[in-house]
Amino acid sequence: MQTKVIAGDITSIEADAIVVNLFEGVEHPGGATGAVDKALDGTITALIANGEIKGKLNQINIIHSLGKLPARIVAVAGLGKQPEFTLDRIRSVSAEFCRALRKLSCRRIATIVHGGGIGGIEPELAAQAINEGCILGLYKFRKHVTKEPEEQDVEELLIVERDATKLPALEQGCLKGRIIAEATNLARDWTNEPANYMTPSDMARVAQELAKAYNLDLTILDRDQIEREGMGAFLGVAQGSRQPPKFIVLSYRGNPTSPKALGFVGKAITFDSGGLDIKSTEAMADMKGDMAGGAAVLSALAAIAQLKPKVNITAIVAATENLPGGTALKPGDILKAINGKTIEVVNTDAEGRLTLADALGYAVKQGFSPLIDVATLTGACHIALGDICSGIFGNSQELIDKVIKAGADAGERLWQMPMHEEYKELNKSDIADIKNSGGRWGGAITAAQFLSEFAGDTPWVHIDIAGTARNDKERGYSVKGATGVSVRTLVNLALASAEPE
Ligand code: BES
Ligand code: MN
Ligand code: ZN
Repeated sequence: MQTKVIAGDITSIEADAIVVNLFEGVEHPGGATGAVDKALDGTITALIANGEIKGKLNQINIIHSLGKLPARIVAVAGLGKQPEFTLDRIRSVSAEFCRALRKLSCRRIATIVHGGGIGGIEPELAAQAINEGCILGLYKFRKHVTKEPEEQDVEELLIVERDATKLPALEQGCLKGRIIAEATNLARDWTNEPANYMTPSDMARVAQELAKAYNLDLTILDRDQIEREGMGAFLGVAQGSRQPPKFIVLSYRGNPTSPKALGFVGKAITFDSGGLDIKSTEAMADMKGDMAGGAAVLSALAAIAQLKPKVNITAIVAATENLPGGTALKPGDILKAINGKTIEVVNTDAEGRLTLADALGYAVKQGFSPLIDVATLTGACHIALGDICSGIFGNSQELIDKVIKAGADAGERLWQMPMHEEYKELNKSDIADIKNSGGRWGGAITAAQFLSEFAGDTPWVHIDIAGTARNDKERGYSVKGATGVSVRTLVNLALASAEPE
């Protein structure tokens, strides 16, 4: 889908559909909605009066113009209650009207700037949210479906504004929205791929594609090099699979004169069977998505490289399968991580923290700071927070607050979990420095405490996306399947961490 910003009057636009809006409780719409109502001889007012159009959030009412307007269809998008209006609601309703109009075979859609009028939102931010919402909401993963789609794609989105002086700001916002949404869709694509199409080598390949497209620095360590680095924990997980592990280091240098760089670390188990502590059928079903964190950190760099903030960022991804092959890790084995700490493997299904231990340890050794890791780490986090909030943990409240804010601006909710010392007791091993599971109770927290041992004194935040990386129903701009969660948080964080030009 292409997006164009044009100056004009929505009532005279030639398109398959035009989109206006309504806040809940408004009986006599003004502005663009009022003008369209007038052209329709008061149909919108009449439908509000009889209770059909309510303006409830994400309600899309379709009216056929029957020749009264150049556009065949008028969609009235509900914005909900005005005091509760947010940018995220613009993203959400934009996704909803795009999908509703796609079902009605609309190829060319024109919309007013939602939030621009009485909503009181800056034009640039509003345009960003509209384009982001539309591109995210129209996402489909059809790569492996050979039959013709029932619905045709929306080809063009026109954002129509009366006041021509606002056009540059709207265009700026649109472009930013597109870059961020397309990066999120890239992460969704990789995460939706089944494990036979997204092996550790495939992850290295897509990182290579990004490096080439956006001129990023890339280093990929193979098994021998990983061994030479001393990453015994990562290698332990990889040893049960025939797929070779890949340690991916992708760097964006937007501030080349500075020696500092942030580290984004992503969990990338391209399939998590549980290993010898094998998962049940139900629990294993979605484990192709256990590389969502790795996909998020890599594709965030794609957006960052296009937005060009003055900051250096390196994404680190330790990619492997977790399989119960004949050479697999056994319960009770002891591994040595890159920082010299020994780990007793009490559960081979707690593999993510083993790979992250070495990825974080490597990041510390390279001097990246602060560190943000993103991981589908624990079922316990899914149970605690459902699929609404990701869990956030860390050793620096200042950094945690900054990441929560970056997430809130993106509409990605993060809920801070406790990190009291007492939880560490549960990870104590009798025969090694630490064990890789603290048991069921507080499982998301003990996992985070485990990781903290490998971040050391470096300011660090851990985001557990086990509950939020996948959706089983459509909701606003989130569609079925992989959500691409955290990409937009990381991009905002990069922008917020940049030096002024
Ligand atoms: N990849 C899983 C966590 C997960 C569960 C992600 C559900 C997405 C949806 C992780 O590797 C895992 O298996 N964790 C175990 C840890 C336990 C053995 C200590 C878990 O959560 O059960
Ligand atoms: Mn596991
Ligand atoms: Zn896992």
